[in-house]
Amino acid sequence: MSEPPASLDRAALQGARVLLGVSGGVAAYKAALLARGLVTHGAHVQAVLTEAATRFIAPAQLAALTGRPVPTDVFDDAHRIVHVDLARQADVAVVAPATANALGKLAGGLGDDLLSSTLLCLTAPLVLAPAMHTEMWEHPAVVANVATLRERGVVLVGPEHGPLAGGDEGPGRLAEEGAILDAVAAALAPAGRGSGELAGVRAVVTAGATREHLDPVRYLTNRSSGRMGYAVAGALARRGAHVDLVAGPGELPDPPGVTVHRVETAREMHAAVVERAQDAAIVVGAAAVADFRPAQAADRKRKKGATDEPEQVTLVRNPDILADVGARKRPGQVLVGFAAETHDEEAHGADKLGRKGLDLIVVNRVDAHDAGFAVETNRGVLLTADGQRIALPLASKEALAETLVDHIVARRTGADLPERTPPR
Ligand code: PMT
Repeated sequence: MSEPPASLDRAALQGARVLLGVSGGVAAYKAALLARGLVTHGAHVQAVLTEAATRFIAPAQLAALTGRPVPTDVFDDAHRIVHVDLARQADVAVVAPATANALGKLAGGLGDDLLSSTLLCLTAPLVLAPAMHTEMWEHPAVVANVATLRERGVVLVGPEHGPLAGGDEGPGRLAEEGAILDAVAAALAPAGRGSGELAGVRAVVTAGATREHLDPVRYLTNRSSGRMGYAVAGALARRGAHVDLVAGPGELPDPPGVTVHRVETAREMHAAVVERAQDAAIVVGAAAVADFRPAQAADRKRKKGATDEPEQVTLVRNPDILADVGARKRPGQVLVGFAAETHDEEAHGADKLGRKGLDLIVVNRVDAHDAGFAVETNRGVLLTADGQRIALPLASKEALAETLVDHIVARRTGADLPERTPPR
């Protein structure tokens, strides 16, 4: 078995009581590696298997790895009300793999077995690592359940894009062990952990769209969901950075350990970022900021005129947030932009990199079905100020954010990039 990558801060796992739920999917065998990884980092692990999970992995294997019996039934030890006990004794819970059925039961509040009943009693943070076939992951019911769970503050890690059971390939593969360990550690220690590669470092990240008002009921905006910026903020926090996330309107839950500042317009985002960027060693602009706004936002709803002639709206330029931060760049500061493009992307990205005084820019297409706005995955190219071009293959936005943070860390220290575990 390979060791999990040791570069991330997992100190919070030491001594933590982790409830490891395993539901019944092919990836259940990987729960053994995760259990071992948690134990290696000093956690006390209590595994709970669904009945279906026992067909993929033996309770005895997890019992041997964790040093504790593995209950599978609400009636295993009925006199002590097992599910209530298990939930109360957890500092954090992680379900890996979490099947579509497990997600659906939790979203719907069903408790028809030991794991689902335990999760309904849980008050500790919960991390879910979904794994299933792509068709299931993309089914509208599963998408809705995932959204519900996210809204409730549940942390989701993965799934990754990659080979699936039965020779298929696509999104649905269980996240890597290292990513799950990091998510559990971050969920345990949401606020300013004192260690990690970026401990004590301040970072500012922008995310989402801005809204530029025409009148009290109408505005100009774009399709950015904020997911990419939220993933970058989470990845920086997991390395120990103190992260201020300046985010446009949206429904995403706050990433663990990140301070979120909500804004609406480009000018509000500009003010919030410029103020904080002075003290920040890292600034990442993942927001899709409106370049223009209506010259005048009417304070009453605009009415159709007496004729059918459309009303002309005059637009004026918004401030360029990253360019202004770049113009005031301090020595050692690392500035990172994103370029949302539909054509000639690398040329446009290189132009923005130079014009805004950036160190790195992620160039991503926004006309592809699996990248850019609102989807769970992204891909593109990372361009550096010293002329490097690094391909960023298709991955979840969380995984791409981790890779980006690797490059930010390497940029700060001038060190070689840390080895990352190759996808399994
Ligand atoms: O939010 P998601 O749904 O996850 O989608 C992710 C994303 C597609 C929005 C993201 O990956 C992305 O590409 N973000 C940048 C979008 C954008 O506005 O690109 P741009 O090429 O117009 O701007 C270049 C850079 O300048 C960006 O870092 C942008 O944040 C910044 N900018 C732009 C205009 C402005 N007035 N101020 C800025 O700081």
